[in-house]
Amino acid sequence: MRGILIPLMGSLGGMSSLMAVWFGGRLVAVGTISLGDFVAFSAYLGMLIWPTVAMGWVINSFQRGRVAMVRLQEILDLPPETDEGGGDMSITELHGEIEIRNLTVSHIENGPPALHNLSLRIGAGETVALVGPVGSGKSTVAEILPRFLRVPDGTVFMDGHDINRIPLSVLRRHLGYAPQEAFLFSRSLRDNIAFGLENPAADEVERAAALSGLSRDLDGFPAGLETLVGEGGVTLSGGQRQRTALARALVRGPRILILDDSLSSVDSETEQQILDGLEQSTQRRTTLLISHRLTTASRADRVIVLDAGRAVEEGTPGSLLAQGGLFAEMCRRQEVEGSA
Ligand SMILES: Nc1ncnc2c1ncn2[C@@H]1O[C@H](COP(=O)(O)OP(=O)(O)OP(=O)(O)O)[C@@H](O)[C@H]1O
Ligand SMILES: [Mg+2]
Repeated sequence: MRGILIPLMGSLGGMSSLMAVWFGGRLVAVGTISLGDFVAFSAYLGMLIWPTVAMGWVINSFQRGRVAMVRLQEILDLPPETDEGGGDMSITELHGEIEIRNLTVSHIENGPPALHNLSLRIGAGETVALVGPVGSGKSTVAEILPRFLRVPDGTVFMDGHDINRIPLSVLRRHLGYAPQEAFLFSRSLRDNIAFGLENPAADEVERAAALSGLSRDLDGFPAGLETLVGEGGVTLSGGQRQRTALARALVRGPRILILDDSLSSVDSETEQQILDGLEQSTQRRTTLLISHRLTTASRADRVIVLDAGRAVEEGTPGSLLAQGGLFAEMCRRQEVEGSA
């Protein structure tokens, strides 16, 4: 529309001058109007062009503002997520034991299920790796735990409590979730890491940055933790974005840490260092480690292999390798790719 309107407006202005000269010139030549009338008329015409253009601009920006406001209002009108009265307020602490029983769940109502009849148990303090081909449902499991995806009653339990009965604030306070694609805001790195915390202590943020391996990047930034991040993290490298997201998950000192392929853009050596650091940090926490790198998955106490929404294998990394199933096959393929 703009491509049509702007040249059209320019050429209409030009045509009106042309017509004024054409007809007005004739009228002057035959003596109907004086030369002074003609000059005055042309001057008035010239004075009218600018207000007309400005009016177009005003209408244009008014329309754009209106559309933007409608979009904003959609967000402002959303009711805040609450417990809808279903939370059991006597639950205030979680130790990090997770159990999923016969869970079948779909992202879209009545759509194809992303997880089929899945059952698994993760003990408090245990590190479990979730592996599987693309689209097998790994991220779906990760999204269920913070209740981003609703599950039926009686399917997911933490410390024996039904997840739908745990107050949302308690649940999320104990969870650190570094999603596959985290969103960074155009604020400072510090604000991005402390996102969602009421009164973040400076040393907590620094400790989280150190644990996530972000500290070494800070020296390269002009203002350290106060460096401004572009919208969506555009001024950071992929690995830096992921480490910022990891620091955000760690800053609340979670009992349950979910890493959804959170270090895929970090080179494998640095990844191992970060995971070493996480293991050594004194806190006892349950870790759900989702990774495409099977060397990383092999660090876990136990590996669960998903395929098309079903748990097909489960055991220690060593036993799964010996068993020669899907996990062993995936490891073999990755080794071949690695050495090629
Ligand atoms: N928001 C969504 N809406 C509809 N379907 C979805 C949504 N998210 C995932 N799915 C579907 O659920 C299934 C499992 O997806 P999921 O993201 O859990 O896979 P994944 O194992 O994490 O894959 P990847 O290794 O590529 O990250 C897929 O078939 C996918 O199409
Ligand atoms: Mg995923």
